[in-house]
Amino acid sequence: MAQQEKPQAPQHIGIIMDGNGRWAKKRMLPRSAGHVQGAKTLRTIAEYARDRGVKYLTVYAFSTENWSRPKEEVDSLMDLLRKYLRDMLKEPTNHVNTRFIGDKTAFSPEIRELIDKVENLIDPEAKMVLQVALNYGGRDELVKSVRRIAQRVQQGQLSWDAIDEQTISEELYTASVPDPDLIIRPSGEYRTSNFLLWQSAYSEYVFMDGLLWPDFKPSDLDAAIEEYAGRNRRFGGI
Ligand code: IPE
Ligand code: IPE
Ligand code: MG
Repeated sequence: MAQQEKPQAPQHIGIIMDGNGRWAKKRMLPRSAGHVQGAKTLRTIAEYARDRGVKYLTVYAFSTENWSRPKEEVDSLMDLLRKYLRDMLKEPTNHVNTRFIGDKTAFSPEIRELIDKVENLIDPEAKMVLQVALNYGGRDELVKSVRRIAQRVQQGQLSWDAIDEQTISEELYTASVPDPDLIIRPSGEYRTSNFLLWQSAYSEYVFMDGLLWPDFKPSDLDAAIEEYAGRNRRFGGI
């Protein structure tokens, strides 16, 4: 399909990058090989989303629950994260600013320093913001924001009855970022797994069966956008 025939991409797309382990298993490879391939796919898809005019791409890379995996897998994910961050520093994605959402305090000082460096590579001509969700959980994000709000009330900076939806939105990692329009999950699981709970209240979901994240191609992003374009978003209206 020629670029001009494609529907306009939504402003903000979220992707739950799932299925790396099954991708590796199918090939009799260790699960870590699936994560390595998944990280490559992320670079390709981020560039393609930028070229399609997406303004914000939020990808779920590591959840607050993923620490419960065997130590060997968590260690290999941390090694891969270090490598991904170093690669980003050496070869940043053109015209993409990257930021990380989630609780960064759980990471090693080395990883936190790399994260800071990548976040500081600001391209003034960036066309897209890539938000990588790391040690992210929607519930954890809400708990942290409630605590900060309670603190402001306790310190007399905010009145309890002035708390509204905006107060909460502004305390989330995604403050100032519009809510996701479309959330894509490959791998055949039909759940959110704690991704952007508050922000996804009116997001459109596209679940893609028979497709594992490492195999996700630009044409799959096109297909999800195509499906989104045919949806009727009512936001409770008629
Ligand atoms: C997603 O792939 C990556 C992370 C959660 C880190 P999985 O590792 O969940 O792959 P499956 O779901 O086991 O196939
Ligand atoms: C969600 O995938 C988290 C990421 C893709 C990072 P999981 O594989 O952890 O989710 P569940 O366990 O299938 O719900
Ligand atoms: Mg999974």
